[in-house]
Amino acid sequence: MVNVIFCGFGGGQDKRVFAKAGDLLLRVAESNGIKIPTDCTDGMCASCAVRIEDISNDEAIASTEEDYSSKGQAVYMDDKELETLMQMGAINKKEAEVAQQFNRPTPVRLACQCVIKESILVKPYN
Ligand code: FES
Repeated sequence: MVNVIFCGFGGGQDKRVFAKAGDLLLRVAESNGIKIPTDCTDGMCASCAVRIEDISNDEAIASTEEDYSSKGQAVYMDDKELETLMQMGAINKKEAEVAQQFNRPTPVRLACQCVIKESILVKPYN
């Protein structure tokens, strides 16, 4: 299991939940009452953009062997997501190239396309 901390999504309630590596961020949010705006749910409209911070190196939060073994996993981002993030101005071309070349996630992701790999902190984009 990995930790997903939602911070700043309204109601003054920050929430820490557990998810399985491989879960879709948008589904985890919805199933835990976190409202992330959506329109297309297909990586095209950018309405579900969120800021992501990797907190998997936080030993106080990572508490199981599985947490540690999942560190540093490659994160594949689909071309469609990278293109949408560039169009909305969240990342530049260089950042998109680095994400593709090194399989590293960008700091802004589309919740409908973001497969959770590690413990993360999630904040609204705006
Ligand atoms: S809901 Fe449209 S990009 Fe995620």
